[in-house]
Amino acid sequence: MQAPPVVSTADLKSHVGQRITLRGWLYARRSSGKIHFIELRDGFGIASCVAGKKDISPEDFETADKIAQESAIEITGDVKEHPKKPGVFEIVLASIKVLAPTAGEYPISPKEHGTDFLMDHRHLWLRSKRQHAIMRVRHTIIQAIRSYFDDGGFTLVDAPIFTPNACEGTSTLFETDYHGDKAYLTQSGQLYMEAAAAAFGKAYCFGPTFRAEKSKTRRHLAEFWMVEPEVAFMDLDGDMDLAEGLLCTIVERVLSQRGEELKVLERDTSKLENVKKAFPRIHYDEAVKILNEHRAQKREEGKTKNDAELAATPDFPWGEDFGAEDETVISSRFDKPVMVHHYPAAVKAFYMKRDPSDPRGVACCVDVLAPEGYGEVIGGGQREDDLNILLAAIEHHKLPMSAFEWYLDLRRYGTFTHAGFGLGVERAVAWICGLPHVRETIPFARMMNRLSP
Ligand code: 4AD
Ligand code: MG
Repeated sequence: MQAPPVVSTADLKSHVGQRITLRGWLYARRSSGKIHFIELRDGFGIASCVAGKKDISPEDFETADKIAQESAIEITGDVKEHPKKPGVFEIVLASIKVLAPTAGEYPISPKEHGTDFLMDHRHLWLRSKRQHAIMRVRHTIIQAIRSYFDDGGFTLVDAPIFTPNACEGTSTLFETDYHGDKAYLTQSGQLYMEAAAAAFGKAYCFGPTFRAEKSKTRRHLAEFWMVEPEVAFMDLDGDMDLAEGLLCTIVERVLSQRGEELKVLERDTSKLENVKKAFPRIHYDEAVKILNEHRAQKREEGKTKNDAELAATPDFPWGEDFGAEDETVISSRFDKPVMVHHYPAAVKAFYMKRDPSDPRGVACCVDVLAPEGYGEVIGGGQREDDLNILLAAIEHHKLPMSAFEWYLDLRRYGTFTHAGFGLGVERAVAWICGLPHVRETIPFARMMNRLSP
């Protein structure tokens, strides 16, 4: 007799009525005495299997009642479709074999564990239903990002990870020894993408980036993945169009392809359905106005509650950057991502294009704030294309001029209007999955106090 085909739990629908073999791990089991119920996990999905006393050998029936969680197993059985629930399958077992038992009790059993414990066991935690769902949504987000740019005529130009200079401020650099010289792990591939935009018109890089920020917040990782497009002859308005289109494409693709995963995550998808063009675009001044209205209201409430601390909430000082709390206040006014543009140049990076029409010194930049309190997911803008203004900015930021000579060449040889942005993949995953912290959005998180597993 021919051995039944080895299939995956994702293929069950094409094997209804047939005998098949599955290989995977024991996810869960229970028993009614006469029938044992087994959930087999194979990485693609989870299959429900039933072992009836009369269907399998007494030895296998005994085995099915004893297998420890996460033992590697192989089962053979007949695929049945649920009579009332199309797309739900059950496997009536003919035999079961333990390929590898567990060394002891599986560390992550259904009992409650704290997040630190789970993060310490990340290599095992990834097998669980929720983590599996998050990683699959992440995968789909990355696919959507790649096809958005590939289909849009962009050339992928990989940026280096070892860099001789800072891009996003000198306080968050990871320093390494590079054959006796100082080098840094890249904070952003942007400067290289500016060179690429002049060479290819539309370019993007997509890779890991590093920030040595001493921040232990729910939005900060030391190592995160960023996609960075850069386009020649595009201004800030074009940049906002590009960012808006990207977020719409991502959300649309996740909604259409990852419904099951969003269900596992109990994500309120009606909030995601709102993510359609056009996103509100507000000037920094207007964002400050929103903050001040909010603070005035707090003061008002403070009066009635006689709460001195609330009553003392001052107005937001024009010129400062927004903190996480401020971003939450601003974005909660809108039910879709909001684009805040023209921040004061002083709180932004050296390369930002100064707006010549505003004597206060504002940058042609944009931060895209995700709704539901998720805050900044995209940062970008138009780049300074005037050699002399850029020289002054590099001096003002006390950056080592020699490391930027190549970058200045881009202004010496055919300088051009150009713009781009960076989208942090983990922040996008946290928002779209509705997670409280970015640590679960990346397979193996690197944070201030975590370098393992
Ligand atoms: O706003 P940032 O620092 O901008 C840049 O790096 C630009 N050079 C990008 C460009 O214009 N090409 O970072 C961009 C995005 C943020 O909006 C955020 O989503 C993410 O990267 N990000 C982080 N994500 C996780 N952990 C951190 N520590 C992050 N820092 C930034
Ligand atoms: Mg930023």
